[in-house]
Amino acid sequence: MSKNEENVIEVRDLYFSYSKTPFLKDINFTVNKGEIFGFLGPSGAGKSTLQKVLTGLCTNYQGTAKILGTDSKKHGKEFYEKIGVDFEFPSLFEKLTARENLDYFTSLYSGEKRNVDELLKEVGLYEHADKKVAAFSKGMKSRLNFIKSLVHNPDILFLDEPTSGLDPNNAKIMKEMILKEREKGRTIIITTHNMQDATELCDRVVFIVDGQMKALDTPHNFIMKRGAARVNYSYMENGKEQVNTSVLSEISSDKLLRKLVAENRIMSIHSTEPTLSDIFMDMTGAQLD
Ligand SMILES: Nc1ncnc2c1ncn2[C@@H]1O[C@H](COP(=O)(O)OP(=O)(O)OP(=O)(O)O)[C@@H](O)[C@H]1O
Ligand SMILES: [Mg+2]
Repeated sequence: MSKNEENVIEVRDLYFSYSKTPFLKDINFTVNKGEIFGFLGPSGAGKSTLQKVLTGLCTNYQGTAKILGTDSKKHGKEFYEKIGVDFEFPSLFEKLTARENLDYFTSLYSGEKRNVDELLKEVGLYEHADKKVAAFSKGMKSRLNFIKSLVHNPDILFLDEPTSGLDPNNAKIMKEMILKEREKGRTIIITTHNMQDATELCDRVVFIVDGQMKALDTPHNFIMKRGAARVNYSYMENGKEQVNTSVLSEISSDKLLRKLVAENRIMSIHSTEPTLSDIFMDMTGAQLD
């Protein structure tokens, strides 16, 4: 097995429950070194719960959940040197400044550390470094929470909705930072409700619905498997607007379309390709937030 194909996360026959009824059921997947792996699914599906199992916060699970060969339920201090966690809800000291927060969290680790000023600059918080976090906006807290997960140079990053609440410019900066972390060889687990982000970032995604895996593949394969790109066109017939659809790759055999083009009767025409949002709706029967 080459280094890139090394499994850094191995989940086998995983079951977990908060109460008597099992919630996560029969979860099986592996994540390779240097991969960005997405958890997708509707609200309440169990994505954050699965991240909590993998990061050693929910330990009473059945089955295997190994991170770099260590069972997440049997983790020691070493375990947290190797993983960085950007929680769904920012976990910061509100009465401390951004820099004090980062200095504090950095002091908890023993290995090689990142330069705090550089991280603050990268996410546009350098000018606000000495402000108390209580005075931060939601997006500022999200950005600080994200770089907090990077301070100790972890091998694996767990990011739970990192771009939620960010404006498009800051979301773009964060996505670029995530891709840079992958280039450095980090493995990244990411949860997102943004299907565009998932398509841009993830090497593979798993759809989780009601605590179970529904499907796992690359975004590209999901989109290809769903079907071909289509062309929708409209035209007037008997004083009424009519709409028709053709498969893009078979457009030359659409006699009606050829006739309408020859007669300059097309009123509108556009092509549509399936997106990961379509797959999400197929998988979950739900609308995106
Ligand atoms: N600490 C807890 N105790 C009991 N039940 C919990 C706890 N945390 C989560 N749950 C329940 O587990 C289920 C899954 O929650 P989870 O937070 O994993 O969903 P999610 O997929 O991350 O949703 P979202 O997209 O809204 O973040 C929900 O029904 C939730 O109410
Ligand atoms: Mg969640």
